[in-house]
Amino acid sequence: MIPVSEPLLAGKELDYVTDCIKTGWISSAGKYINDFESGWSAYCGKKHGIAVSNGTTALDVAVHCLGLKPGDEVIMPTFTIISCAVAIVNNKGTPVLVDSDPKLWTMDVDQVAEKITPKTKAIMPVHIYGHPVDMDPILDLAEDHHLAIIEDAAEAHGAEYHSHHNNTKSWKRCGSFGTMSCFSFYANKLVTTGEGGMVITDDETLAKKARAYRDLCFQPPRRFYHEHLGNQYRLTNMQAALGVAQMARIDEIIAKKRWMAQEYTKRLQNVPEIQLPAEEPWAKSVYWMYALGLSDTCGMDNTECAKRLYEKDVDTRPFFIGMHEQPALHKLGLFKDEKYPVAERIARKGFYLPSGLTITKEQINTVADAVCEVLGA
Ligand SMILES: Cc1ncc(COP(=O)(O)O)c(C=O)c1O
Repeated sequence: MIPVSEPLLAGKELDYVTDCIKTGWISSAGKYINDFESGWSAYCGKKHGIAVSNGTTALDVAVHCLGLKPGDEVIMPTFTIISCAVAIVNNKGTPVLVDSDPKLWTMDVDQVAEKITPKTKAIMPVHIYGHPVDMDPILDLAEDHHLAIIEDAAEAHGAEYHSHHNNTKSWKRCGSFGTMSCFSFYANKLVTTGEGGMVITDDETLAKKARAYRDLCFQPPRRFYHEHLGNQYRLTNMQAALGVAQMARIDEIIAKKRWMAQEYTKRLQNVPEIQLPAEEPWAKSVYWMYALGLSDTCGMDNTECAKRLYEKDVDTRPFFIGMHEQPALHKLGLFKDEKYPVAERIARKGFYLPSGLTITKEQINTVADAVCEVLGA
């Protein structure tokens, strides 16, 4: 079976983790935590990094720091992981959804303006499968309406966006746009710590709040006295040690992903019935996953296609199911009769192919052959 993703721990990972074990720095203090926080935030163009236990807790920390009041709204794409909606709901906010761009699968930025109300406090763009959201319209709206941006760059480590905001005209990395930006370092991400996450920001007050919240809001002068409620979301020094080793190889990792995408595209570009991942001229995608959409005329949905590929020893994953189709959120009275046709279609027609960092040209060819056979191309 060709797996969807396998981590590649080919640098100093073992040395650094061994160092943690030999020195006894195995919990959430230690030099690797500091190096990972400062290194990753600097790489992404932000001043402060707050390492946390995973990408879901990173989103929780970021939304918590907004200090939402009940009924405050955050605009987000329906097509994303449920972590985004959970972070808003658990912090007393109300998620407000927009549909996806049919070509890029990221949020349709043209739908954001019409969703802004006096209760809107933030916009949460989510970069999808390695391709950036078109950020300039969001940056403009946030500025005009005094909204925060919680940027979810979990799937877009090192991806770049060519911004013209405020006449800047420069390539900027994903994660550099948010008031607070969030990352996951789960094992299938470009940079991994096994489980892990980070919030990055330029705002010192927010950074302080985030640091306190991830560590139970202990107060330095009187340790077990709490004026605020926090959570235990700390990352360990051992996990950060992996992160530091991985971070050193980020250019190589991105190059491998882009090579993989190029190889898949060469093999699949003439196959009818599939939509290949797009890359806008204003974007440098990192192809976190090589994602495909089946056409409406293809007599198969993603479940059937995945089953047939699995029979040929090719593992795949289906696309997200939109937040407005989640019973768990309907039970909270959210999104009941809302319709987002693009997200509904791609949830049934989209899937991604094996895209891990260990993938070989031979495996790519095997996967492409299987896709062609299943689609009768
Ligand atoms: C866009 C996005 N945000 C957040 C997360 C949550 O990250 P984690 O699995 O580390 O909690 C993921 C996970 O894949 C994701 O894809």
